[in-house]
Amino acid sequence: MSLYKPRRAVLYVPASHQKALAKSTTLHPDAIIYDLEDSVAPEIKQQARENLRRHFQEQGQVTITQAIRINSLSTEWGQDDLRLAARLRVQAVVLPKAETPQQIIDVARQLDHDDAPENLEIWAMIETPRGILNADEIARLAQKSAARLKCFIIGTNDIALSTGVKTTNQRSALLPWMMQVILAARAGGIDVLDGVYNNFQDQAGFAAECEQGAILGFDGKTLIHPSQIETALNSYSSTAEEAAWANQVIAAFNLPENAGKGAISLNGTMVEQLHIRQAERILKRIPKSVKRFSD
Ligand code: COA
Ligand code: MG
Repeated sequence: MSLYKPRRAVLYVPASHQKALAKSTTLHPDAIIYDLEDSVAPEIKQQARENLRRHFQEQGQVTITQAIRINSLSTEWGQDDLRLAARLRVQAVVLPKAETPQQIIDVARQLDHDDAPENLEIWAMIETPRGILNADEIARLAQKSAARLKCFIIGTNDIALSTGVKTTNQRSALLPWMMQVILAARAGGIDVLDGVYNNFQDQAGFAAECEQGAILGFDGKTLIHPSQIETALNSYSSTAEEAAWANQVIAAFNLPENAGKGAISLNGTMVEQLHIRQAERILKRIPKSVKRFSD
């Protein structure tokens, strides 16, 4: 079984926002994406890279996953961003506006060329009409380890912009596209993260969107503000009840009298062999009562 990497709460930190950069070392999401793309104005791209270089130099020991969102390789900044990510030895490069498998391959080749560590991952943002239509073809790349592809992130703000769809009414108009991207990720065997919730002062609305995302099957949510971390961690963790059920299922199938059985009765409900896999999945999601490994 591959190592479970929690990506329940994944916070963007603009590389141009000095106070946010400083604050990021005090926060405990599962992962941080240091952004060089859309939260950084064109005139200060170079300065933002410099900020990141200094930030990584000065930070102490880090226990959470760190990623850098680069500008697309088709922009004038993409190559420099990618070279910096390889040098800073982050765990992942986030590629915005991914639309074709070739774009992922190009990033992977450049990382190889820049001697990036073999386990440096690529997370691809699916956030354009073409990207959604090609999500299956892109996710198939994950079968080749050389492609480094481990995760999709849905970019709901960009999808709304490029399609004209409204994000109101519990994102009902976006649902078919979100499900299409989730399905493609699952068929390819990679993780998939929900988009951001812009109104960071609306805690109730944010919590509702986290619950919705968890029901849809996302692995976690991307965040824009520290105040969103705790809610996202909770929404994407197993509950104590789920963990108890999972332990019971595994214990029941381990009983000698159930050896070799495909379906058994547990507390008056049928459970099948497939529920063992579901139970294992639940147990891999750190329960709410347990704090992060590093705490
Ligand atoms: N990461 C780390 N720290 C952050 C942060 C973030 N994303 N957003 C805010 N903070 C910090 C602030 O620096 C401030 O720190 P302080 O306590 O040392 O003063 C504190 O959290 C409170 O912030 P607040 O005053 O409420 O917000 P702000 O006006 O500083 O920032 C935004 C608001 C929206 C500009 C900011 O949250 C942000 O830039 N978010 C990310 C945007 C982004 O990356 N977009 C691209 C992906 S969608
Ligand atoms: Mg975007």
